[in-house]
Amino acid sequence: MARITAGIASSHIPLLGVAADQGKAGEEYFKPIFAGYDWTREWIAQPENKPDAVVLVYNDHASAFDMKVIPTFAIGCAERFGICDEGWGPRPVPDVEGHPDLAWHIAQSLILDEFDMTMINEMEVDHGLTVPLTMMFGAPEAWPVKVIPLAVNVVTYPPPSGNRCWALGEAIARAVDSFGEDLNVQIWGTGGMSHQLQGPRAGLINAEWDNRFLDMMTGDSDEARWIPHIEYLRETGSEGIEMVMWLIMRGALGKKTKCLHRHYHVPCSNTAIGHLVLEPD
Ligand code: DHB
Ligand code: FE
Repeated sequence: MARITAGIASSHIPLLGVAADQGKAGEEYFKPIFAGYDWTREWIAQPENKPDAVVLVYNDHASAFDMKVIPTFAIGCAERFGICDEGWGPRPVPDVEGHPDLAWHIAQSLILDEFDMTMINEMEVDHGLTVPLTMMFGAPEAWPVKVIPLAVNVVTYPPPSGNRCWALGEAIARAVDSFGEDLNVQIWGTGGMSHQLQGPRAGLINAEWDNRFLDMMTGDSDEARWIPHIEYLRETGSEGIEMVMWLIMRGALGKKTKCLHRHYHVPCSNTAIGHLVLEPD
């Protein structure tokens, strides 16, 4: 039987992809940011922690989708996902290998569980998905895990509610549990933390709020699922709403979690970087 063994949360700031690709991760500005991932890189390289597959919850930033099509929740069922061109050419990282059998199983289980997923059989992925892979695995020839992209609309109003995201995470856990093959599956929630990229409040960071949110991810509190959109907007800026994707990860870990690793750093580009490694407890 497949099981969700851990959850990882991470910001997905494109500048970190640039730093890694151009060999700048050791520079003064980037050093403390990458150092906060050292623990995780060592941990995930241990055979007992290395997932067979990752359900990677992320958002597309008008790369694969645009105003013509805006799926609220979409699941990537393809064999392979290419790397999209975000304006400077595709990142020089390997294509992402999918897990079609598990992805179709999760899609079926979610839809029959009343989560109306969009199924995607051809898609390129952007920094929302590739930057977390880089932070966890560095620059391998091929990514060492299979990835099921789970795309969430947090770009065009209205994004899904925190409660709906948490419930989707719970349903993903049920789906994984009912897959026949013995697989170690992780779920990652990406994006955040506080940031606003445009308008008069561009550059907004709220470290106090972010750290309370990090606290809420550990233990048995489900307070975070009830945070309304307006609070994310007011307290964490227009792009802070990406944090609802962490709630899908958190919901999938069950009633209680244990925190194995926590990292927070300001600034990284325009954003507060947050990273957690959690286990179901
Ligand atoms: C930045 C952060 C993001 O989450 C993103 O998607 C794009 C840019 C930034 O801080 O530059
Ligand atoms: Fe983003």
